[in-house]
Amino acid sequence: MDYTFADRLKNITSSATVSLAERAKSLRDAGQDVIDLTIGEPDFPTPPHIIRAGYRAMIKGHTKYTNSRGIIELRKAIAQKLENENELLYSADTEIIVTPGGKQAIMYAVLALINPGDEVLCIEPCWLGYESCIALAGGVYAGVETREEDEYAVTEKQILEKVTPKTKLIIINSPSNPTGKVLTKEELEIISKICIERNMICISDDIYEKIIFDNHQFHSIASLPSMRERTLILNGFSKAYSMTGWRLAYLAGDRKILGQINKLQQLSATCPSAVSQWAGVEALTGLQMHLKKMTQAYELRRNIVHKGFNNKKLACFKPQGAFYGFVNIKRLGVNSDQACECLLEKAKIVTVPGHVFGRAGEGYVRISFGTSEKNLKKAIKNLEYL
Ligand SMILES: Cc1ncc(COP(=O)(O)O)c(C=O)c1O
Repeated sequence: MDYTFADRLKNITSSATVSLAERAKSLRDAGQDVIDLTIGEPDFPTPPHIIRAGYRAMIKGHTKYTNSRGIIELRKAIAQKLENENELLYSADTEIIVTPGGKQAIMYAVLALINPGDEVLCIEPCWLGYESCIALAGGVYAGVETREEDEYAVTEKQILEKVTPKTKLIIINSPSNPTGKVLTKEELEIISKICIERNMICISDDIYEKIIFDNHQFHSIASLPSMRERTLILNGFSKAYSMTGWRLAYLAGDRKILGQINKLQQLSATCPSAVSQWAGVEALTGLQMHLKKMTQAYELRRNIVHKGFNNKKLACFKPQGAFYGFVNIKRLGVNSDQACECLLEKAKIVTVPGHVFGRAGEGYVRISFGTSEKNLKKAIKNLEYL
């Protein structure tokens, strides 16, 4: 049958990283010894005390719908985390909503704020999920391109070049997927100044907040003067607590925005999984030891990647946080799609082409170090076949 699909899906493509990870899996299933460095998923198991909390919740009968904003126990734990760690005060009743994952949270935020034709700025190279959400809402994506030679620093001039009277929103992500760049306080001040002067809202995607190296520091833009009312914080459990499959994240922001977002949640998901939410309470209020262990492991891997992917043919910016290396392939003399093919064919490594992270990503491939040291070392050894 010839189906006609909604126009809104015309400009949406399926996730490149998911398709590449599936390709890696099918190659492995076919007996090929390929190393998958594509997926943005920690390889650590969810810490056992969090799993036990989920199990206890099921046994206790927490297996029904919850309040559409999430159980109050979790919203209070989130409010406490924001107060203790970020010096931000949010009401658990009206200013926090728990969502089934960060992707859904971004979708809600963009659908709630963007009308067709409204423009949204993203600092490139950036996570590919934002562009699809913006397109689905009928918005116009505008990439602010930052460069490796500037250590991915963003300037006032670069942002202002992309601001128009239609710019409604800027999405920031620090530490960044895919570069590992952490925005400095000075950069956040520039962004906040522009938001205030041009009446823009900022979505601050803080999902990698906990994975940060050396003496880099995470700062929340919402804590800058006059920014709380124009910031929507997105954070979640997938990366910090290795809980990707539990589908759990949250948004914190002004109660008027959250009221609109709650309508979207009620219409689409009703609420996040009750079991996951109880596990989330334990994640935030229980033992935090694993966080340190995981970050130490990521830092070790970061060092391996940074050393191994800087050679005669490749160069890699030293990630300051998150668990990705953004590898410069320009000396191979091919584009990033061809570089991925070449890395797969010759070195048996599956990577993501940089152009999927925006125009500024052409000339690069992304590798994830959400995988074992052993895999990373093997991948680096295979680079000699390039
Ligand atoms: C920058 C960024 N934001 C948000 C997400 C969404 O994560 P989740 O939907 O698992 O919460 C991801 C996942 O890869 C990400 O890299």
